[in-house]
Amino acid sequence: MRPPADAIGTLSLVVGAIAVLIFIGVEGALVFAIWRYRASRHVAGEPATFERNRRLEIAWTAAPALILAVIFVLTLGTMAEISGAGVTPAMRIAATGHQWWWEFSYGGVKTANELHIPLDTPIDLDLTSADVIHSFWVPELGPKMDMLPGVTNHLRLSARRAGSYEGQCSEFCGIEHAWMRIRVVVQTQSEFDAWLAVQSKPRTTVETDAEKIFLANICVSCHTIRGTDAKGTAGPDLTHVGSRVTIGAGVLENTDANIVANMRGWLADPQRYKPGALMPSVPLSNADLDALAAYLVSLK
Ligand code: CUA
Repeated sequence: MRPPADAIGTLSLVVGAIAVLIFIGVEGALVFAIWRYRASRHVAGEPATFERNRRLEIAWTAAPALILAVIFVLTLGTMAEISGAGVTPAMRIAATGHQWWWEFSYGGVKTANELHIPLDTPIDLDLTSADVIHSFWVPELGPKMDMLPGVTNHLRLSARRAGSYEGQCSEFCGIEHAWMRIRVVVQTQSEFDAWLAVQSKPRTTVETDAEKIFLANICVSCHTIRGTDAKGTAGPDLTHVGSRVTIGAGVLENTDANIVANMRGWLADPQRYKPGALMPSVPLSNADLDALAAYLVSLK
């Protein structure tokens, strides 16, 4: 199947072309009338009137109705196509909106904010919300779809170009709505399989003193690190947090030279970067913060 964004793009072009033709027709008639009936060509006598001209009235009612009917049918066709009806998805991924981050679950393997999908493969996202209404939207890949508490909506995605696609929550969901970014990483099937194999494993480091700091603090109330006793589910699964490109759903880079400094800054005071975020500051000594930040970015 062609990617949903392609179908939407084609429909936009067709509707845009119809709108341009109407614009040219209406403006052309206007300019012609101004020129043809200008004052210097005034002809004596009453101007013609078109009151009660039934054929004219039928024509200017039928023409717009016909145009709208054509657009309606084209839209129905596009909606059917992008819903992926008749094409079985190769994979289902559960996506849950949270204030203010995204959870993606590949059959129990959880990650956050960065959705990886294989190239040229129809994927179905099963969308729901853990709290308020969010809306999943990656414009280059497909339409918007609301994420509602207690309801599961479905969204078909597929991409024919590998790379990173940016998206954004598109339903106001509270103070940090704007920092609810989505990154979709489209990979070849073998790259995707390798990525999923890594994500499926528990954390690969051995237990360190830094990990004990994590386990001894409130971090564990909200976060899971598979392979440890941390099993919280209110916040993102951190088993492989070091492999993500950003932290805080896009707030801070997690890849540049400041990777440990950014993580440390986030741990020390999340409210500084994302005011209203549900993550509290954890009162730790400077040495513990350094160690904890280095530990988390090492979770690849
Ligand atoms: Cu989630 Cu706006």
